[in-house]
Amino acid sequence: MQLLNMFDLIRGFSEVVDLVNTTLANHHQRVALITDQVCGRLHMDRLTCSRVVMAAMLHDVGVIPLQETSDSLFFEQDMSRHSLAGWTLLRSCYLLRLEAKIIRYHHISWRAIDTVPDEDREAACFGHLVGLADMIDMHLHSGGDAAATLKSALKKARQTGQTYSQESLAAALELCDSPGFFDNLTEKASRLQLPPQPEFMLGPEDATIFCLLFSHVIDARSPFTATHTSGVAHLVRRLHELAGLPERDRKVIFIAGLLHDIGKVGVPLDLLEKPGKLEPEEFKAVSRHAFLSQQVLSAIPGFEQVSPWGAWHHEKLNGQGYPNGLTAEDIPLESRLTAVADVLTALTEDRPYRPGMSGSGALAVLDRMVAGQAIDGEVVNLVHQHFEDLDETRRQAQNLASHYYRTLKRDILIATDTYQRSGFCPT
Ligand SMILES: [Fe+2]
Ligand SMILES: [Fe+2]
Ligand SMILES: [Fe+2]
Repeated sequence: MQLLNMFDLIRGFSEVVDLVNTTLANHHQRVALITDQVCGRLHMDRLTCSRVVMAAMLHDVGVIPLQETSDSLFFEQDMSRHSLAGWTLLRSCYLLRLEAKIIRYHHISWRAIDTVPDEDREAACFGHLVGLADMIDMHLHSGGDAAATLKSALKKARQTGQTYSQESLAAALELCDSPGFFDNLTEKASRLQLPPQPEFMLGPEDATIFCLLFSHVIDARSPFTATHTSGVAHLVRRLHELAGLPERDRKVIFIAGLLHDIGKVGVPLDLLEKPGKLEPEEFKAVSRHAFLSQQVLSAIPGFEQVSPWGAWHHEKLNGQGYPNGLTAEDIPLESRLTAVADVLTALTEDRPYRPGMSGSGALAVLDRMVAGQAIDGEVVNLVHQHFEDLDETRRQAQNLASHYYRTLKRDILIATDTYQRSGFCPT
């Protein structure tokens, strides 16, 4: 497996966080771009600047487990809830320790900086810059003469001197007068051009840990999806092994399994959690997740295999699948493995509204799908031969994921509740 740049991965995942917030498309990318420019004006070194920009790309990630809508995100009274939830999600990953702390403090007021513990002070200062970039983006999309509104807001903030540092406000005002600043940020391009960044190359182990973390972040959105991804990832890795495919691809197929449903972040929760049959329009909306997964994964450099192996899990050999309606000759074996792992996991896992299907029932469904030329018969033969082994693999993985999900939810509650009881008010 080739080395992956953490910056590219974070950029891809930031697009996923943007799927939650449909009213301000590309919000995270724009805040990252503004943060980069503010840091540049403050003469921050490139390496540190990149770490702050990576935090900016994920700054509102806490909305995913809180299930908050875009409206509550931007107009909620207590802005610290999603900051603390984001910190809780990322802090366990040693690769993101600084970014997690920056996210924790991205709504801190400058006047509260002195109250932050010494070991967090630097991250809090960086967080305050992300908060400033966030505020700039909000003003740029507030309608009317955005440039004038923003400048007057910055000048007002300068007079009160409470929320942002004088130095950062001066940098922001300079930016407003720099050529092309507003054009860059208001253009409709789906991907904004960030200046070249230092590389943070990850080996296979770290890349897997990183993708595992993000699969947990995405799954934390709902108890209905909390363990599905983990089941599919472990199942497809075992199928890959049983099929005798090259060991060198084992981590790639695992990552493809972890990220196959990443686009579900863009599907309304009430549809994902609907226990009964979906209406045709609802089915169309849910199906869009495969397209979104493909869109996000295919844009990440180094994911040339992960993208088709993961995002094509709803393609069918008879051409009636989605998102591309591919036919058998275009669907690689690895994508077929993910498709079978996905169906098998969906059938046998327990859902909050129904228990999982028995082995014989699930195998009968798979056989019918083979007869209808939806999934690969050879892969389903493998499932018949090794059902006990595969089912145990899935069950263990899902039990572990369920434990992780409950722990994460508890930690988020503790973090946000502690804040509320402490009476500490950063805004
Ligand atoms: Fe925020
Ligand atoms: Fe934000
Ligand atoms: Fe899916």
